[in-house]
Amino acid sequence: MDLESIKEKIAHLTKQLDNCNYEYYVLSQPSISDFEYDALMRELIDLEKKYPQFKTEHSPTQRVGSDINQNFKQVKHQYPMLSLGNTYSFEDLDDFDERIKKILLDEPYQYCCELKYDGTSISLVYENGLLIRAATRGDGVQGDDVTENVKTIRSIPLRLQANYPSRLEMRGEILLPHKAFRVMNKEREERGEPLFANPRNAASGSLKLQHSKEVAKRALDSYLYYVLSPEINLDSHYQRIKQAKQWGLKTTDNISLVQDITAVKEFISYWDKERHNLPYDIDGIVIKINSLRQQEKLGFTAKSPRWAISYKFKAEQVLTKLLSVDYQVGRTGAITPVANLEPVSLAGTIVKRASIHNADQIALHDLHINDFVYVEKGGEIIPKIVGVEKKQRQQNAKKIIFLEHCPECGTKLHRIDGEAKHYCPNKNNCPPQIKGKMEHFVSRKAMNIECGAATIDLFFQAGLLKNIADFYDLKKAQIYRLERFGEKSADNLLKSIEQSKKAPFSKVLFALGIPEV
Ligand code: IVH
Repeated sequence: MDLESIKEKIAHLTKQLDNCNYEYYVLSQPSISDFEYDALMRELIDLEKKYPQFKTEHSPTQRVGSDINQNFKQVKHQYPMLSLGNTYSFEDLDDFDERIKKILLDEPYQYCCELKYDGTSISLVYENGLLIRAATRGDGVQGDDVTENVKTIRSIPLRLQANYPSRLEMRGEILLPHKAFRVMNKEREERGEPLFANPRNAASGSLKLQHSKEVAKRALDSYLYYVLSPEINLDSHYQRIKQAKQWGLKTTDNISLVQDITAVKEFISYWDKERHNLPYDIDGIVIKINSLRQQEKLGFTAKSPRWAISYKFKAEQVLTKLLSVDYQVGRTGAITPVANLEPVSLAGTIVKRASIHNADQIALHDLHINDFVYVEKGGEIIPKIVGVEKKQRQQNAKKIIFLEHCPECGTKLHRIDGEAKHYCPNKNNCPPQIKGKMEHFVSRKAMNIECGAATIDLFFQAGLLKNIADFYDLKKAQIYRLERFGEKSADNLLKSIEQSKKAPFSKVLFALGIPEV
């Protein structure tokens, strides 16, 4: 093939793959099999490797990310990224509607209702159809340039389809679907890394990762809900969202144009139930005046638009019995009280335990054993106790008094002035603190030694590991003798320990887990 035909072939494959991405990630209607897709991708990768002069930074092969360290540049938003006013009740919505009526005088108006995605907001800038910048909200005026990371998100097109405006800004939300969140946390648990509390934190944490190659592994998704471009003539927000989808952008699907506030409330009631069947979290509904001309007339307050408001769903609560309290000792010696509850179903899972955070929370609710407590799951994995039904308290119920001594080693607990947590000061001899330090030491971001919590516990019980330095004195003969340990796993562990000696100093320093460092 001559160079000209190769260039054409690359352009053709690029177009084909871009289109497949659109069908798969935006329309959810793939037209070819994964196998065929992979074959096309392979072909393009090979051609680009052979003819790097034809490779572009918007090629579909660039979704895999890179190992280059990023220092996120600060970028100024062309228009500030504002937040929305919140409401929690239908009465508040009526007030909102009254304010709109007053300002628009007798003009008729329509509301556009959308899901309020519980992720992290993003601004995407396209110039001549190419994604040139992605930025986080930051302080609303300027945010972090996370373009390289965002390019790995398959539902965000690197190149728009035909008839787009020459300059376009899209705003939306990056989120992590439940399934991807569970997989990710499971992997983190296996590697001894701290878990993300909820998909929102996982999504925003992922966007700020240093290596885009890591972001590419995280199955992030996106929904876009705001179209900004002076070139577009459409007055209707609803129409603009539909239009953006034609350009290849993944806009919100569950959107409804309604005639009055009563219909808005119906939309809310429907999604308050139906949201539990969505594959990702939403935390409410956003209600927007549909006409841009009317939006302009309504204007903004210092913080948020007057033409939109968000209705936040109440977190689901259940009442159940508090049976007893356990106290967990963390790596730093911090003590966390955890309630054992009578098992109860809440937002799709059976809850048996809830965090009480610290002694102040026990005092705040004046908790007693056998109290009936309200438990809430606010997107977090571990539910929390948010209140007590005092009327149902039994006479002679036993008040819960916070421990005075460490449940693991018996040392008297300390509480530093101004801090909510109690600590066990026996840093070097309290078993969960020693084991916690070791788990942190071996974790992937630290020394990256392949040794799970169960193995650490086994070695600790056997007296082979008393502190982190002991990893480097482990002998094959000692390990090999232990139950569940074959020759191969002993070799693998020792190899991984040997490998860790090459870790750069920054990782060693992190691995030591020195407080405040
Ligand atoms: S509209 C000027 N629509 O909620 C108003 N926001 O508290 C622009 N959000 O920062 C926002 N889903 O991150 C809008 N369908 C939706 C949304 C949405 C989620 C987030 C967004 C914003 C926050 C407002």
